[in-house]
Amino acid sequence: MVEGPVREDKFSFGLWTVGWRAADPFGDPTRPALDAVEAVRRLAELGAWGVTFHDDDLIPFGSTESERERRIARFSDALAETGLVVPMATTNLFGHPVFKDGALTSNDRDVRRFALRKVMRNMDLAAELGARTYVLWGGREGSETDAAKDVRAAMERYREGIDTLARYVTEQGYDLRLALEPKPNEPRGDILLPTIGHALAFISTLEHHEIVGVNPEVGHEQMAGLNFVHGIGQALWQGKLFHIDLNGQHGPRYDQDLVFGHGDVLSAFFLVDLLENGGYDGPRHFDFKPPRTEDIEGVWASAEANMRSYLLLRERARRFRADPRVTEALAASRVPELARPTLAEGETPADLRADRDSYEDFDAESAARRGYAYAQLSQLAFEHLLGD
Ligand code: GCO
Ligand code: MN
Ligand code: MN
Repeated sequence: MVEGPVREDKFSFGLWTVGWRAADPFGDPTRPALDAVEAVRRLAELGAWGVTFHDDDLIPFGSTESERERRIARFSDALAETGLVVPMATTNLFGHPVFKDGALTSNDRDVRRFALRKVMRNMDLAAELGARTYVLWGGREGSETDAAKDVRAAMERYREGIDTLARYVTEQGYDLRLALEPKPNEPRGDILLPTIGHALAFISTLEHHEIVGVNPEVGHEQMAGLNFVHGIGQALWQGKLFHIDLNGQHGPRYDQDLVFGHGDVLSAFFLVDLLENGGYDGPRHFDFKPPRTEDIEGVWASAEANMRSYLLLRERARRFRADPRVTEALAASRVPELARPTLAEGETPADLRADRDSYEDFDAESAARRGYAYAQLSQLAFEHLLGD
């Protein structure tokens, strides 16, 4: 048994997760709409720390100004009443048909300008509510046919759009950083910035690259058959892990958005281990969908399940790290040795070339015979994961 979640765990949920009415391409919603105030209250009761939202989750598209104000006021009151914070906000740039060919990279320039304004407007609200991260998921940025999109032009418009938004944030003096969320496909046949690696490469081209990072989602990398833990490792190494979407996925297929851990559980174990020990102190944000089969009680049960899964994995990761057998196995596998620079301090390529031990006298056959003892190490992790 693990203790229930506390605020210090920094668990957050999107309004769109617990509020998902479960309409899918084949069927109607199975649940009634969930009031944002009710969502805030229930999440707080369950031990969550934060709540996040798309503009349209809180204020339906096309609402009048007075309706907008009324909804924001009710939401703010619920935050004050519960102590829940808003660590992140984002924009719905995918729901309305106007975005059917994308937002920041739509071929239609008017749509691109409208999209920028829609983001700016919600950035104002995000800053007002104290958010520190602004997520941009380009779900509709992409195509179904390669004839439709000049990808070089699209990347140029994407760059222009993100730099414009970053400049807006800076000029307004907002304490906000932008986080791009990669996804390979769905709803578009192919989405631009499909993986963490693509996003990181793109960010390096930005004028305002310092305030732009990534918001990777477990299932999205796994849909592309990639190793999420490796992607997160690289994002951390580059100082770009600004936010994270935790959930579960069974390999390359449609975006399942399962409860965290309810997919590749071994990968989830190593992910929690990395987040806890790798210098990430941001939100643990769950972007999942309560299964379509569930009524509202099932929604709350699944929300709680995300946090419990994380806490259980965290406890097992801690035991793994504290186990002297693991320390020994790590040393036997020479894991700590990788942190040692390959060249000696001050050593030049010419010095290396002059070092006969490194090449002329190096016994490759004997080095090739040394095992890495990963089998033992890997099984120790597996057994800790299972609680043994
Ligand atoms: C998805 C995405 C979204 C985004 C959200 C925030 O696959 O549907 O993960 O849930 O995270 O729109 O921008
Ligand atoms: Mn998803
Ligand atoms: Mn997401």
